[in-house]
Amino acid sequence: MSISIWDGFSVDWTDLFGQDWNVRAGDMAAHQKEIGRAAAAVAALRKTGRGPRAGEEVLFPHLPYLFQEKRLISPEEIAAMQALSAECRGGFDALLSVGIGGSYLGDQVLFDTCCGPYWNLMTPEERSGRPQVFFAGQTADPEALASLLRYLRSQAEKKEGPYRVLVLVISKSGTTVEPSGALSVLEEALPSFCAEARFIAITDAKKGKLLEDCREKGWTHFVVPEGIGGRFSVFSQVGVVFAALLGLDTEAFLRGAARTEEACRSEDWRTNPALALAAMKYIATVRYGVTAEITMPYSSRLASLGGWYAQLLGESLGKKETVDGQPAYGGRTPVCAVGTTDMHSLTQEHQEGRRNKLLQFISVDEPAAYLDFRLTEGGRPCTVAMSHVLDAALRANAAALASAHKMSCRISIRKLNEEYLGGLMYFFFLTIAYEGAMAGIDAYDQPGVEAYKKILHGDLAHFAG
Ligand code: PA5
Repeated sequence: MSISIWDGFSVDWTDLFGQDWNVRAGDMAAHQKEIGRAAAAVAALRKTGRGPRAGEEVLFPHLPYLFQEKRLISPEEIAAMQALSAECRGGFDALLSVGIGGSYLGDQVLFDTCCGPYWNLMTPEERSGRPQVFFAGQTADPEALASLLRYLRSQAEKKEGPYRVLVLVISKSGTTVEPSGALSVLEEALPSFCAEARFIAITDAKKGKLLEDCREKGWTHFVVPEGIGGRFSVFSQVGVVFAALLGLDTEAFLRGAARTEEACRSEDWRTNPALALAAMKYIATVRYGVTAEITMPYSSRLASLGGWYAQLLGESLGKKETVDGQPAYGGRTPVCAVGTTDMHSLTQEHQEGRRNKLLQFISVDEPAAYLDFRLTEGGRPCTVAMSHVLDAALRANAAALASAHKMSCRISIRKLNEEYLGGLMYFFFLTIAYEGAMAGIDAYDQPGVEAYKKILHGDLAHFAG
């Protein structure tokens, strides 16, 4: 059954709900207490901006209205963003976005989805004067940064006029090792071969080394608003400033999020697709042994969405304790896949491996391109639109999985643009918020990443003077 979320954006849970081998109607009734609690908790969060822990601020439901919310973004920031966006049209050869985790993954999705895989190979005219785009600071692998610098240097040498680079450093804390380290390398290396290497930042309003740098060096900077965690930040300055620099339609991106927000406010799961899908996934997990969730867009441009969602799911629901200190259910292990590519690798295990997973397919209704495959089927030649093959492959995958009683759902958007992408990403915010509240956990913190950080910083401290 396909349920419309809004025009051209729908979810189909036929293979997740309503049959005797998946989540049954009676299960929703049996778990009504958790579902009702979650509906009330997210409704309260929308009103109060308060998370499940005392004193915790959670403001993501306000982000779809970012440009009207002065407490989230100031008029000065909007003006600075617009000025930089105009300057980015013809003013810079390359934009380097430096960040990791929630300060990186959403921008990679925006770039891949809206600019496509060959953006950096296009001429400046084909990019409407916008810069090439590179990501850095998302790993400590020296080879990644060294090869980026090598490439930029060669571009600068080849260019007849001045070579200009804009570095956008994104770090809420302003202290994360990989982006801070990458920034130190870039600050040293870029001036040696660039006519201009300009640094701008998005960071906390009040504290952090990056903020100090901005003040000391006079860098333009934007704020990651209070109450917006990294993985919930794509509709804040973190995503919106980056998108504006590329000339993307930021209003449409936020409008898509707002349409989803407004379509998913009901406290009854029958009339709220985000609440319903969250409940089905939650029940599949606590009642039917699902421990993994595979996100599988049938769209090359949406491949990185799986990585963004993996952080959202993993960091939000992978908690050992409820807010009351009871053992928690632990969430699900996120897995990223892409159709049809991974049908030739992962699908064997999905089909015949353990019955511990659910698949979340994502599809795009209107193909952005039309090409025909010439094939031979049943010994006879045939011509089939590639977009038909793509969709038929998704349906075949879901049907085969259903025949083995493996659960899946399908989320469809009409087309790949800022508005539908915004609607889709925000829909995931809501499903995660609802499911976290069903499980009684705090979906907005990430205490589990502190353990390794302590060990890593202990190691790095040996190098301090
Ligand atoms: O979700 C999170 O909090 C993390 O993934 C962070 O986004 C990531 O560690 C980057 O942190 P920061 O923006 O402080 O550099």
